[in-house]
Amino acid sequence: MDEPTAGAKPASASRVGLAIITEPGQANSFGTIHGGVLLRLADECGAVSAMRHAGPGQVTTAAIDSMMFLGPVYVGERVEIVAEVSWVGRTSIETRIDIYAEPYDRPERRHVAIGYAVYVALEETARRPRPVPPLRVETEADRVRLEEGNARQTQRLARRAARGKMPSDHS
Ligand SMILES: CC(C)(COP(=O)(O)OP(=O)(O)OC[C@H]1O[C@@H](n2cnc3c(N)ncnc32)[C@H](O)[C@@H]1OP(=O)(O)O)[C@@H](O)C(=O)NCCC(=O)NCCS
Repeated sequence: MDEPTAGAKPASASRVGLAIITEPGQANSFGTIHGGVLLRLADECGAVSAMRHAGPGQVTTAAIDSMMFLGPVYVGERVEIVAEVSWVGRTSIETRIDIYAEPYDRPERRHVAIGYAVYVALEETARRPRPVPPLRVETEADRVRLEEGNARQTQRLARRAARGKMPSDHS
């Protein structure tokens, strides 16, 4: 199945990977890597993926959600983060982010986290949201992925709307 749309880009064009060797300074006192360290790398990788899709210019992180940590990462392990666009709105881009870990001396790669982040492409001067290319749908799997992304974005926007009704911040 192919639904051609002018300027649409396939998800594969935005796939990026980032790999690091973890260090003691990134760990807690139990010798495992802080979730926040992995979140930062995930955000950076997701942003690069979104920029690949959006084309030249800035993107900003609008939301990081449903990041699930599936297992610990130990000091000295090689961490690989892979991000790819999974849904696209008018100015917003969702990326799926997967994190893997493996001991530096053995090829035993583990899937340690999965999550989604949304980026918004911005105009250079006014920092207003700017339109991005649509995501190309070529297969049934692409169509399903887009529908799932739509559902996640609907939930996010509902949460954002509910946030406006919460009691004022403690600041
Ligand atoms: C993200 C941001 C640019 C959105 O600006 P805005 O004035 O709310 O603009 P809009 O309401 O027109 O939203 C623009 C797009 O972002 C999406 N969006 C906004 N907030 C969102 C959220 N919390 N989750 C998911 N998508 C969101 C909208 O759905 C819209 O997408 P669409 O054009 O594809 O339909 C603005 O909230 C912002 O600058 N936030 C801070 C970003 C930042 O500094 N991040 C770094 C971490 S500190």
